[in-house]
Amino acid sequence: MNGIPTPLPCAFSIGITAGAWHTARDMWTGTELRTTMLELAPPGAACSVHRTGRDQAPLWPGELPAAGSMSDKRLREFSAGRYCARAALADLGIEPVALPVGPGRAPVWPAGIVGSISHTDDIAIAVVARQAALRSLGIDVESSDPLGADLLPLVCRDEERIALRTTGPQLLDGAKLIFSAKESIYKCLWPLTGTFLEFHALGIRVDPVLQRFTAYSQDLHIAETLRLIRGAYRSVGGLLLSCAWLDRADQRMN
Ligand SMILES: CC(C)(COP(=O)(O)OP(=O)(O)OC[C@H]1O[C@@H](n2cnc3c(N)ncnc32)[C@H](O)[C@@H]1OP(=O)(O)O)[C@@H](O)C(=O)NCCC(=O)NCCS
Repeated sequence: MNGIPTPLPCAFSIGITAGAWHTARDMWTGTELRTTMLELAPPGAACSVHRTGRDQAPLWPGELPAAGSMSDKRLREFSAGRYCARAALADLGIEPVALPVGPGRAPVWPAGIVGSISHTDDIAIAVVARQAALRSLGIDVESSDPLGADLLPLVCRDEERIALRTTGPQLLDGAKLIFSAKESIYKCLWPLTGTFLEFHALGIRVDPVLQRFTAYSQDLHIAETLRLIRGAYRSVGGLLLSCAWLDRADQRMN
């Protein structure tokens, strides 16, 4: 199913640097989330949004081994992600297939496809694209309420915290954006490097006017790839969406 027909009430209100975030919106729909994610993602991407309801969407046999040890909540989340991933693949003309869990917990996509899945308690979102267009892709969806203050040192490097302090009381909103950007970048980077990364392994630079981000690292294993990854973010009705991708057109990658 593409889109969620019923608007859901959200009670969040955020704001960061002027022009960067929308302030109080109290409703979102699946259609709105899908449209926004497609605006963030580069051309050629397909997206689907699915509500994580009380009923579990059916899994394919190749997905069942991973599902065996999951709690009911986790199973609903996992199956909603697979459900909307198959819907997004259908938009690319790909027949439904099993999407097993691969190394590092990353989904195993059909040959020639890159993609990414994210969930909240209420929804799952999947974005996919053909490898002919993109080398890799990572997405994240979070509630746009501020990051917990206790998580700030874990998520943000010193220089990121210094930069965020200029946003004053909205520091923890900015920290949430950095959190989401790092999650997207991690998912984009994983298929290329297979490297687990701590939050401090990379830093994020945010352009609040264009609502874009880039990443950098002193770790030579990932620094060059990171330099080529682009990111974009947007706040929609209490949710924060981010997308990071590595363009196929960039020939500097092998
Ligand atoms: C995987 C992770 C990034 C996000 O997981 P989460 O908190 O459950 O949040 P989301 O719902 O947004 O994403 C989960 C989905 O990401 C995908 N995913 C998980 N691990 C992945 C990986 N290594 N590479 C690509 N995608 C991955 C999966 O599809 C997963 O959903 P599924 O298990 O139902 O298939 C996080 O749990 C994690 O492992 N973090 C540690 C590393 C990290 O974040 N580093 C940041 C510094 S760069």
